[in-house]
Amino acid sequence: MGDLAEKLRSVLGPGGFFEEPALIEPYLVDFRRLYHGASRFVARPATTEQVAATVQICADHRIGIVPHGGNTSYCGGATPDRSGSQIILSLQRMNRIRACDPGGFSVTAEAGCTLLQVQQAADQAQRLFPLSLGSEGTCQIGGNISTNAGGTAVLRYGVMRDLVLGLEVVLPDGRVLDQLRSLRKDNTGYDVKQWFIGAEGSLGIITAACLKLFSRPAAYLTAFIGIQDLRGAVALLSEIRARMGDAVVAFEVMPRLAIELTIKHIAGVRDPLQAPHPWYVLLEVALSDEVGQHSERFAGLLATSLQGGAIRDAVLASSESQRLALWHIRENVPAAQSREGASIKHDVSLPVAAIAEFVQVAGAATVALAPGARMVAYGHLGDGNLHFNFSQPANQSPAEFLARSEAVNHAVHDLVAAYGGSISAEHGIGQLKVEELQRYEDPVAWDLMRLLKRSLDPHGIMNPGKVLPS
Ligand code: MLT
Ligand code: ZN
Repeated sequence: MGDLAEKLRSVLGPGGFFEEPALIEPYLVDFRRLYHGASRFVARPATTEQVAATVQICADHRIGIVPHGGNTSYCGGATPDRSGSQIILSLQRMNRIRACDPGGFSVTAEAGCTLLQVQQAADQAQRLFPLSLGSEGTCQIGGNISTNAGGTAVLRYGVMRDLVLGLEVVLPDGRVLDQLRSLRKDNTGYDVKQWFIGAEGSLGIITAACLKLFSRPAAYLTAFIGIQDLRGAVALLSEIRARMGDAVVAFEVMPRLAIELTIKHIAGVRDPLQAPHPWYVLLEVALSDEVGQHSERFAGLLATSLQGGAIRDAVLASSESQRLALWHIRENVPAAQSREGASIKHDVSLPVAAIAEFVQVAGAATVALAPGARMVAYGHLGDGNLHFNFSQPANQSPAEFLARSEAVNHAVHDLVAAYGGSISAEHGIGQLKVEELQRYEDPVAWDLMRLLKRSLDPHGIMNPGKVLPS
C-alpha cells in the first residue's frame, strides 16, 4: 500500500489525494446511512489524464476503485466495502462545462458538474437541460449517467440515457474511450457508450458527457389535483396526454398521507386544497408560446373533469411562486417520510395500466407481513415509476419495523415481476439490490451482464460488488 500511495500522490499532486482519516470519513457513508465502508485513500483527479493514470496504477496493483459523485445514491452505489482495500475516486474536481453549443442544442460537461450547474449552463445559453430531481443541487452528472437517472420530467424528455449524445470514459485498463461527440445519428457498429450508462461505474469511469439541450418553455401550467383513486389518476393521465400531447411534462402522484407528512415535517408547507382527498396529482404542462388560449384550454379540461367527477378538486398555480410552492410539497415527500421514522422503500416501474391494481394487491400483501405499515406510494405515475414506500407505525420501534423488510421486499418484488414491472426504475442497483437483481433478472440478460463485466474488467477492480456480485 505504501508504494501505491506514493505512486498515486505523485500522479495526483497536492489536493488530489487524501490519506487523513478525517478527510476520508465523509466518503465512507451513503446519504441514507445504510452503509459504512472503509478506505485508506481518496483520489481526487482534476483531469481525464489523471483519472486514467490513477486507474492504471490501481489496475497494476489489482486495487478496487469506487467512483464517487455527489453521494446521493439510494442504493449504496458510491460507498466502498468494509475491507479497507478499495480506493475512492472522487470526480468532484472535474467540474468544468467544457462547451455549450446552443445552435447545436448540446452541452459538454465534466462528470463532477452538479446537475444544477448543467441546468444553469443551458439556461444561460437560452436552452433547457431537462433532467430534474430533488437532489439536483448536489448530485453529479457522472452519477446521473452512471445510474441512468430519471426524475420528474421523464414523461416529456426521457431518462438520462435518452439525453446522452456522447461520452468520455476511462476503461478498467486505463485507456480512454473518446466518444465525446454531439452527433444525433451515428450507426457505426455497436453503440458502446450505452454500456456505461446505468453501469454504476462497474465497467469504467465516466469523465465527461455531451448532453442534449432543448428549447426553453415559454411558460408552465401547473395544477395540484385532488382525486379519488389511482384508477382515476391513470384515466386523467391518458386524457391529458391525448389532448395536450408532448406538452405534458410531469404527472406526479401522492397519497393523502404524503401530504400530511410534508405538512407535519416541512416548514412552510400548507394543505394545497381546501378539503382532504385520498390521492393527489401534480400535473405540469410546458408551453412553447405564451399562456393565452392554452391556459383556458387547460382550465377547461380540468373543469370538465371536475364536472364529470373524474377529479374532486384542483388548484392552478397563478404565479411562479405558487408553482414552486406546489413543487415544494412534492419534492419534500422523501424528506418528510424519513423524518417520520423508519421506512421500507421500493423504486419500481410497471405498465401504467397495471399500477392501480398493483398498489392494491401489493399494499395488502405488505400490511399482512408488516402490520400497521403505512403506505406512502408516490412518484412519477406519468412514466409508470412509483416509489412504493411504507412508513413505520407509530407504536413500533424502527428496528421492529425494519425486521420485516426482507419479507416485504420479496413479496413486493414478486408482485412487480408478476405484473411485468422492474424492481429498479431509476435508483439503480448499487450494493442494495445485487441479490434482488440476480433473483429477478432474465437469466440470459444476467449472463450477458456478467460476460460484459468479465470482458471489460477481468480483474474486477471497477466498483467491486456493485450491480453484480464481486
Ligand atoms: C423522488 O422521486 O422523490 C425520489 O426519486 C425518491 C426519493 O427521494 O425517495
Ligand atoms: Zn423518483
